[in-house]
Amino acid sequence: MFSHDSIRFDLLRQRAFNLRWATVPEGVIPLTAADPDFPCAPEIREAVIEYTQSGYLSYGPPEGLADFRTALQHYFLSNRQYSLPIDQLLPIDSAAFGIQVVCKSLLSPGDEALLFDPVDFLFQYCIEQAQGIPVRFPIPPGTEAVDFSRLEALITPKTKLICLCNPLNPTGKVFTREELTELGRIAVQHGIPVLSDEIWSDIVFEPHTFTSLGSLSHDISQHTITVTGFSKSYGLAGLRIGVLATENKALFQRLFETSLHQFTVHGANVLGQVAGTAALTHAQDWLRAYVAHLDRMRRLVSDRINSMKGLSTQTPEGCFVSFVNIEQTGMSSEAFQQHLLDKAKVLVVPGLSRWFGPGAEGYVRLSFATSEQVLTEALNRIEESL
Ligand SMILES: Cc1ncc(COP(=O)(O)O)c(C=O)c1O
Repeated sequence: MFSHDSIRFDLLRQRAFNLRWATVPEGVIPLTAADPDFPCAPEIREAVIEYTQSGYLSYGPPEGLADFRTALQHYFLSNRQYSLPIDQLLPIDSAAFGIQVVCKSLLSPGDEALLFDPVDFLFQYCIEQAQGIPVRFPIPPGTEAVDFSRLEALITPKTKLICLCNPLNPTGKVFTREELTELGRIAVQHGIPVLSDEIWSDIVFEPHTFTSLGSLSHDISQHTITVTGFSKSYGLAGLRIGVLATENKALFQRLFETSLHQFTVHGANVLGQVAGTAALTHAQDWLRAYVAHLDRMRRLVSDRINSMKGLSTQTPEGCFVSFVNIEQTGMSSEAFQQHLLDKAKVLVVPGLSRWFGPGAEGYVRLSFATSEQVLTEALNRIEESL
C-alpha cells in the first residue's frame, strides 16, 4: 500500500498544492507541506463515490451529520478514553478553521494567548487574526520533560488562552501524561481554557503513547477544547474536514455561535464528513499500515541525516516531519533552504519565525510521508550537495 508504485506523481503534479508537487518545477522533490504522497484509503474513496453517485449533495445539518458525530464520539471513547457528549462534537471545515474559531471566540483585542516555540504557524496567525497577542513558551527540539511551571510564570490577567499542539509540529514531541496533568492543573487553577490541537495524534511511534488532555479529569475537560482533523492521518487535506469538541456546554455553545454554521456562512461539507466517517469506521487497518511505514521512514531520515556532516536531528516521537539542525553548516535556515533547492533540487520548509516562531532559526523541516525511494533519492541529493 505504501510502495513507490502506489504513488501517482502525474496526479500529484496536477493536484498537490501548498508548496508541493503542483507548485515546484519538474525534477524538484518537495518535502514541504505535511501532506502525504500516497492516495487515501480505498475504503474512503468507496464511501465518497457511493454517496456522490445518488446525485444528492444537499445542505447538511449545521451541527454535522449524525453518522459522523457518532463515529467521532466512538473514536474519542475507544481510542482516547475520552467521553464526549455527541451534541458537543462539531464537524468543521478543517482543523485550521477550528483554531480560528477558538481564537475568535475566546480572544478580545489585546488579550494574550500562550503558544509554544517552535510550533505550526496557524496558532500565531489565528491569534493575530483575533487581534490577540501571542506569547511564546519555548520548547526547543530535544526537550525531554517540559517544566510547565515556567509557562505558569508567563500567565498575566490578560491571558485568555493556552495553545497546546500535541504531538508537536515541527519537533515531533509527544507530551507525556505527567506533563499534560501539570498543564491541566495550571489551566484549571487559573481558569484559562486550553486549545488542544491533536491533529497529529494518530501518528505516534512506539514506545510513545498519546494522551488526550481532556481525558485526564472532569475539571481539566471543562477547560479543554479539542481540535483535530483528517489531513495528516488519512491524507484528506483537500476535503477540508475537522472537528471541534469540548465537554464544557457553555463553551461549546459559544464556539458553535462563532462557527456561523447556523447561518450557512460556514459548515463542514458533506463529502468531508462522509470521508471522515469511513476513515474512522473502516480505514483503521490502513492507518496502522501507514504508521508502520512512517515509522520506518522516520528512522531512515534520522540515520541518514545524523550521518551527514553539519546536520543533526532528533528522531521524532510523533508526526511525519523531521526537524533538522543546520547550524553547523554556517548558513541561515533560509540560505540552507535555497542551497538545497539550487544544488539538490529538494524543497524543505525553512525555520523562519513566520512558519514556526523565533525558536526555529537554525532548523529546516522536512516531511517523510512518501516512499522509501523518493526519500532515499532526496537524502542522497542532500548529502551530495553538502
Ligand atoms: C498542528 C496543526 N494543526 C492544524 C493543521 C491544519 O490542518 P487542516 O488541514 O485540517 O486545516 C496542521 C497542518 O499542518 C497542523 O500541523
